Amino acid sequence: MNYIQSYILEHKNRFINELIELLKIPSISADSAYKNDVLKTADAIKISLENAGCDTVEICKTDGYPVVYGEKIIDKNLPTILVYGHYDVQPPDPINLWNSPPFEPVIKKTEKHPEGAIFARGACDDKGQMYMHVKAMEFMTSTNQLPCNVKFMIEGEEEVGSSNLATFVKNNQEKLKNDVILISDTGMIANDVPSITTGLRGLSYVEVEVTGPNRDLHSGLYGGAVANPINILTKMIASLHDENNHITIPGFYDNVEELSKEERAEMAKAPFSLESYKKALDIDSVYGETGYTTNERNSIRPTLDVNGIWGGYTGEGAKTVIASKAYAKISMRLVPNQDWENITKLFKNHFENIAPKGVKVKVTPHHGGQGYVTPIDSIGFKAASKAYQDTFGKTPIPQRSGGSIPIVALFEQELKSKTILMGFGLDSDAIHSPNEHFGVWNYLKGIETIPLFYKYFTELS
Ligand code: BES
Ligand code: MN
Ligand code: MN
Repeated sequence: MNYIQSYILEHKNRFINELIELLKIPSISADSAYKNDVLKTADAIKISLENAGCDTVEICKTDGYPVVYGEKIIDKNLPTILVYGHYDVQPPDPINLWNSPPFEPVIKKTEKHPEGAIFARGACDDKGQMYMHVKAMEFMTSTNQLPCNVKFMIEGEEEVGSSNLATFVKNNQEKLKNDVILISDTGMIANDVPSITTGLRGLSYVEVEVTGPNRDLHSGLYGGAVANPINILTKMIASLHDENNHITIPGFYDNVEELSKEERAEMAKAPFSLESYKKALDIDSVYGETGYTTNERNSIRPTLDVNGIWGGYTGEGAKTVIASKAYAKISMRLVPNQDWENITKLFKNHFENIAPKGVKVKVTPHHGGQGYVTPIDSIGFKAASKAYQDTFGKTPIPQRSGGSIPIVALFEQELKSKTILMGFGLDSDAIHSPNEHFGVWNYLKGIETIPLFYKYFTELS
């Protein structure tokens, strides 16, 4: 057993208990009723960074929730790693589908996590993964093994689009200056198949509103004679995909980069079982764009999905009504080179154009961000790969993810540095879903791997 492993073994229970305390605070950024809890979480992060050995830690105000910033600069001539994470979490709804309350963490064994997993909202996304960095820092400072400078930037608005972080980054270029950005807010293939995320999709999120008559109408007296906004909205949405599941918005694919045969062949080498994929989701078939595999569909191809749709009567029993309005929330996942603001415009124009006479359509953009791909020949990637090699005993597979962390592209634009995405979650950890969890093994493996990244990054720099 090496030095890191014995330190982790000795402090394992405390590491777990500290994370559990953090998970008890419901830092739901989307719901203003939890404002005090979100702020309380920022305070808790500040204290934990101080305890981990940062020299200065500040709670930086923004127009929204604060950014917790901490640093330890040991030598200006050594490289600087900027760690990014988020302390806010998704709303836990639907609450009744949780097997234990979302903010009362419990440890239970699962098929994928025979050593136990911590069940709580934010366990994996991102409190658990962010806190691995705090504990790795504690290990390095308390054993005098911090090989380089480190800066932490932990934000509280990632789950609602990081809209104030962009300004914070633009206004603090000097403070945030770094040689590489390190983030654990993604996943890996399996505990025995380590992988490093090399790409994230961009995002354009919009809300649409279709208005028909000026009031709700009796569906017998008026039905058939006026446009029903819900009928129209569903028809419009259905027309956004053709029979091959291509998106029909003119210009949507204009900047989409087609991967070469070789790149696709390389991707196809990653271990993947369609049978287990279907089984885990209880579906008899996958569904998607013709001509692409499941792994391609959910990473290198753009998508359009309805995230929510409502209108009319949804209460108990039946009410005969033609609603005045119908609504939907729609997300488009984008690939690098697609500009999210341009895609939002294309969507808006197209959606307004296809509206039939008899309804009015309003499209409201929410938020968005660009996609990201990181090179695999950088010092950062090599250092990460060596670190995984040591702790997993296997070379990690580079893999593009379908999820989005929109701020990553902005980091590159403003701070001119590459991001390394060392995620330790599994797809089955149910992030954003009921019963989110994070494997204890994964948590500790992360704490073990991170200091090695620091070591190799400094050596290779
Ligand atoms: N950590 C996730 C993103 C993620 C998860 C990327 C797993 C890759 C693998 C992040 O917190 C998230 O949920 N992002 C949102 C976008 C945001 C603008 C709300 C997403 O991807 O839906
Ligand atoms: Mn996250
Ligand atoms: Mn998330």
